[in-house]
Amino acid sequence: METENDRLLTTKEILEDSEASNPLRPKTFSDYIGQEKVKENMLVFIKAAKIRKESLDHVLLYGPPGLGKTTLASIVANELFVNIRITSGPAIERPGDLAAILTNLNEGDVLFIDEIHRISRSVEEILYPSMEDFSIDIVTGKGQMAASYHLSIPRFTLIGATTRAGQLTAPLRDRFGVILKLELYTKEELFKIIIRSAKILNVTIEKSGAIEIASRSRGTPRIANRLLKRVRDFAQVLGGGIINLEITKIALDKLEIDNLGLDANDRRMLTILIKLYDGGPVGIETLAASIGEETVTIEDVYEPYLLQIGFLSRTPRGRCATSAAYSHLGISKD
Ligand code: ADE
Repeated sequence: METENDRLLTTKEILEDSEASNPLRPKTFSDYIGQEKVKENMLVFIKAAKIRKESLDHVLLYGPPGLGKTTLASIVANELFVNIRITSGPAIERPGDLAAILTNLNEGDVLFIDEIHRISRSVEEILYPSMEDFSIDIVTGKGQMAASYHLSIPRFTLIGATTRAGQLTAPLRDRFGVILKLELYTKEELFKIIIRSAKILNVTIEKSGAIEIASRSRGTPRIANRLLKRVRDFAQVLGGGIINLEITKIALDKLEIDNLGLDANDRRMLTILIKLYDGGPVGIETLAASIGEETVTIEDVYEPYLLQIGFLSRTPRGRCATSAAYSHLGISKD
């Protein structure tokens, strides 16, 4: 069965674009394209923390996957001249795992927790005092042998990332001094990112080719960079290595990514919504079961872009396909 990672348009991070080996990730704010409001605010907070010689307040980044939350956290650490420790909610299984990470940090370091909405309650319990008072309480042993230790930890900055701020418990959310929302990128921003990435990859790209890839990347740099690499393959094999509009169109059509960036999965979901449920409204669980996906995948991966381009609407009674979706798929409304 096809998995989420097999999907070319997946926003999940896969080996190819992982942290250490990815030269396409910008390392400073001046290299980072887009998210202007987030950048502007972060720069002020970083400067202020530096002036006061304090650690930066804890930051929560939220928004759809693939928009550069890990990249931003690394840049923040870079600009603060501190180290970053990267982990994720599901990777911290027991409170002791988090205690080990926290006690190994240096003063001022950034701890990045991806998918922070997935940390367990017991881990969350020791995260609170660590964020607030830079201390943790550790209990060892059982029964009469039980002992509790109060440990100070270095002052650090937690950068939490989540696709769903609504799923954080209120007490956790309240402990972040800075909460920033990442937005899907505009075509112009994606165009600039593609041109920058092509330069780093040492591949010649014509403006028209870059515009075409940008238009089909559904507002997401991770997808733009992945499509650029696949189009480069076609250009190398079929077109003398230069990415122009013609090669880009051939490549993206072969990859079944249409002119708006929808892939076969998006089209299948919309088609089922229209044909099986008369265009909706249909509840998200029902829709998920019909296409054999998890509801969170629909919410995080399919929906943000389909909502942005106005193909889908969310109503209290469920999801609906809009007339724009009907006409894109060439289905008449009655
Ligand atoms: N590569 C991935 N995301 C990027 C961004 N926001 N700016 C520049 N290059 C990127």
